[in-house]
Amino acid sequence: MPAISAYAPGKIILFGEHAVVYGRPAIAAPVKDVQARAMLQANPKGPHGVLKIRAPDIGLDSTLDELPRDHPMAAAVFAVLRELGVARPPAGNLKVTASIPPASGLGSGAAVSIAVIRALSAFLGSPLPDERVCALAFEVEKLHHGTPSGIDNTVITYGMPVFFVKGEPIETLHVPQPFTIVIGDTGVPSPTAGSVGDVRRAWQAGKARYEALFDSAGGIAEAARQSILIGLTESLGPLMDANHGILRKMGVSSPELERLVEAAREAGAPGAKLSGGGRGGNMIALAGRNNAETIASALQAAGAVRTIITQISSGGK
Ligand code: PMV
Repeated sequence: MPAISAYAPGKIILFGEHAVVYGRPAIAAPVKDVQARAMLQANPKGPHGVLKIRAPDIGLDSTLDELPRDHPMAAAVFAVLRELGVARPPAGNLKVTASIPPASGLGSGAAVSIAVIRALSAFLGSPLPDERVCALAFEVEKLHHGTPSGIDNTVITYGMPVFFVKGEPIETLHVPQPFTIVIGDTGVPSPTAGSVGDVRRAWQAGKARYEALFDSAGGIAEAARQSILIGLTESLGPLMDANHGILRKMGVSSPELERLVEAAREAGAPGAKLSGGGRGGNMIALAGRNNAETIASALQAAGAVRTIITQISSGGK
């Protein structure tokens, strides 16, 4: 049996992170320049039911049974076995690799889950439809983030820009006028669960203030959706700046993020903001017609450990 491979892209949140956990809309887009890959090869000589899992990027070399059941990769595997009513996996070798930096707001966790779910279900002869892939990946996200909105698993499963409201049917976003985003990585790892937990505690301590911040972020996401749909991408810059101001007030920025956001604006970006959980991880800047490279260089000079220039378009998987 030939090896089966599945891929999943990274993602950025363009508008509405954190507020999306509280039911406000958000916009996210896939980043296909980075990806997770799962490759499954049958091992007919191996003992029945022993699935070896190797993820060299994180130094993982184990069997499924040796991993804690809530380990993200084990959880993804068990979710597929449960879904398909398979008691034991056939003997095989699962190799997982990712060019998506972990804990940086680019969706590496969800992308790994989705690549594993796709590869394993195809390997078992029942490739799952997107809707089920998305639902299983959400179950895995919940184990690790506590109260995820579901935006990461949705945008990565469908591989298209989405206008996302928690618990509502997915709305993919048509982008008639593609635009360029420069991503800058602070190099500071920042697990999402930490900042999401801090925002929850702050919200509990000051509900009126935080509800108002969430409303403002939701309004910005609505306005951005309109601008994207009619191809008025210039207006996204000020909306990004406004969204960043709100995220600062929520307490999820950091000195490193501020430095990069400022550097992007000084280099001519029409707008910039942190993207994802915040505190570290990545920021994004809207590029003008010809200045993406200039912005990327300015971000590197200001301390970005990595930059990605990516195109936001309707795209497909
Ligand atoms: O995974 P991250 O860091 O991109 O964060 C996801 C966005 C949050 O709104 C902060 C959390 C969520 O579940 O929506």
